[in-house]
Amino acid sequence: MAISSSVQALLREKKYPFIALSVLFLSVIFILISNSQPSFLSLSSNFSSSFSTLRQSPAQSPPSTLPDLPESHRDDVVVENPDDHPSLPAPQEAIPVIPPPSEGRESPSVAIAPPPVVASEIEFDKDLMNLKWQVCKGPVAVDYIPCLDNMKAIKALKSRKHMEHRERHCPKPSPRCLVPLPKGYKIPILWPQSRDMIWYDNVPHPKLVDYKKDQHWVVKSGDHFIFPGGGTQFKEGVQNYINFIEKAIPEIKWGQNIRVILDVGCGVASFGGHLLDKNVLTMSFAPKDEHEAQIQFALERGIPATLSVIGTQQLTFPDNAYDLIHCARCRVHWDGDDGRPLMELNRILRPGGFFIWSATPVYLKNERDTPVWNAMVALTKSMCWKVVAKTMVSPRGVGLVVYQKPVSSSCYKERPKNDPPVCKEVSRNVSWYAPLKRCLTQIPAEGSSWPPLWPSRLTARPLSLPSVPLVEQMFHNDTNHWTNLVSNVYLHGLGINWTTVRNVMDMTAGHGGSNPPKLKHSIEPEIYAVCEGWRFATALVNMPVWVMNVVPIHEPDTLTFIFDRGLIGVYHDWCESFNTYPRTYDLLHSVFLFSNLPERCDIIDLAVEMDRIVRPGGWILVQESKELINKIGAIFRSLQWSVNLYNGRYMVGKKSFWRPNGGEVQR
Ligand SMILES: *[C@@H]1O[C@H](CO)[C@@H](O)[C@H](O)[C@H]1NC(C)=O
Ligand SMILES: *[C@@H]1O[C@H](CO)[C@@H](O)[C@H](O)[C@H]1NC(C)=O
Ligand SMILES: *[C@@H]1O[C@H](CO)[C@@H](O)[C@H](O)[C@H]1NC(C)=O
Ligand SMILES: *[C@@H]1O[C@H](CO)[C@@H](O)[C@H](O)[C@H]1NC(C)=O
Repeated sequence: MAISSSVQALLREKKYPFIALSVLFLSVIFILISNSQPSFLSLSSNFSSSFSTLRQSPAQSPPSTLPDLPESHRDDVVVENPDDHPSLPAPQEAIPVIPPPSEGRESPSVAIAPPPVVASEIEFDKDLMNLKWQVCKGPVAVDYIPCLDNMKAIKALKSRKHMEHRERHCPKPSPRCLVPLPKGYKIPILWPQSRDMIWYDNVPHPKLVDYKKDQHWVVKSGDHFIFPGGGTQFKEGVQNYINFIEKAIPEIKWGQNIRVILDVGCGVASFGGHLLDKNVLTMSFAPKDEHEAQIQFALERGIPATLSVIGTQQLTFPDNAYDLIHCARCRVHWDGDDGRPLMELNRILRPGGFFIWSATPVYLKNERDTPVWNAMVALTKSMCWKVVAKTMVSPRGVGLVVYQKPVSSSCYKERPKNDPPVCKEVSRNVSWYAPLKRCLTQIPAEGSSWPPLWPSRLTARPLSLPSVPLVEQMFHNDTNHWTNLVSNVYLHGLGINWTTVRNVMDMTAGHGGSNPPKLKHSIEPEIYAVCEGWRFATALVNMPVWVMNVVPIHEPDTLTFIFDRGLIGVYHDWCESFNTYPRTYDLLHSVFLFSNLPERCDIIDLAVEMDRIVRPGGWILVQESKELINKIGAIFRSLQWSVNLYNGRYMVGKKSFWRPNGGEVQR
């Protein structure tokens, strides 16, 4: 800390040559120390060590309960521990694994000190510097989400039967006002303490406490909200519930076989929050509804969450993405609308993946629940879903059923009736504003291969990546580029206080990175992006942060591969506002987002949206050309952010508490 503040002092005094030398010197020391004593710096300690513990592991078949597979096959499938596996696959089948960064450092030909990070001047665009701002007005201003709070569009809706009023209705043009701060807003409590307590003033919604009083979801205590880990279906606590599920279905192996899951209608996301301990990454979602602010609670706690609804449109996730989907009393009528909601789950569920449904129709017999259960039995059968468990969780009478999606389409063909039909087209990034479909998403031929166990899964080469020598080479080269960039520049060179960072968004997770190699044009841009786009999240994987990987719809679709790796993300169009509450992310990262923005969008609107999403005291890290940074930097300066430029291309902005006219409103 002392070192970094004196460096900042030197930066202010513009002693660049001295800085360059000392950064070089410090970097050399850092490399020496981190190679010899990996736990010296807490932020990077688990970085190299964990990479070196990753090892090759064969592609897994789905973690199926597989009652119909011969025992011998079963042994191949369920690998208890990669160490126990007798032999690695033959070389031509091997999944290349990213070499640990330390290898590069030891090898003399690559052992170069990282380039020094040097602050440079921004020539602020004068017009943009003088932009004038206003705070948003109205009762919802502090929690304003432009595309979900468009009352004019909502009032004009012809129907609300399918939750149309909770879907996106983006105002055009985007409003350019700044969201005001809630009264008494404070810098959020740091992770991991935030999982169990947050500031009341930051999310002052006492409604949820009253509404859920008997359920122990959330309790107000003095200046804080406290989360004891309760919930309707978690009568014995969420930890017991999680352990119970694994006992009921041993193939679930939290954090190894099951890594990325979706929690539908998630309450305050305690399920996902507690699964983090088991290396499971949960995307929790719920609509913005009368449980107002449950997603805001989750994000304030530092738990991955997003606003979404199963209404008339597809969820903004790719096909075959999630290992498991969970719904505990999530109030979605799965069998409604001719089964479209359940077919949407089927679309995003990985072949062989599980759906856990914990709701009264599973375990109560009465006039209301029995017909729902019967409809669900017929629907899941027609979709070739298999019941792998149906059980009571607790003696107090809560039960659940676990379904499994098939691993191949053979069952579809064997059905007496082709109903629901198999979808005709294979979709890629078409789930943006796409209507729900009544068909079964095709299962890819490679559907039967489950990703390697986590954490090998993170660095395993995607099976669908063509096996061309050039691609292999690029895959390895680029890894070093990103791990070096993140560990040497992002973590230590840019003055970002990473101890305050928990919720991270990579706004351009589909982007190919800064330095496309010469061979870029000899391969598909999409393949190039696959090799690069997820690097940022990967490089941060051992830090106490989580990353929302946003793949812009105007860029190559890499989201499938991001999920294959065991990371989470969504599609988004950056010409519109994102489905999140204001002040929900600590750091936004973007690489050439502004310069690649489609013509229909405006860089000022994008800056306003970034200002909305980031917490006061939070950061943006933007890579762009010098010319564009002069403009972007000026916009953020006019928003009273502090802005610095490093090496002529990494712009770091820090948001202040400033709002026009003070900007505090009475609620
Ligand atoms: C980083 O943030 C933490 C928590 O707010 C604070 O204690 C620490 O002093 C900060 N470090 C620097 C260098 O500002
Ligand atoms: C590094 O990993 C070890 C074991 O995996 C863990 O005990 C330790 O807390 C981790 N350290 C940090 C800083 O995350
Ligand atoms: C990999 O890196 C080497 C050395 O930096 C370079 O010569 C080569 O062109 C790179 N290959 C690819 C495929 O990027
Ligand atoms: C994704 O969608 C966008 C916009 O609809 C389109 O321009 C782009 O080509 C698509 N990408 C892929 C890989 O299909």
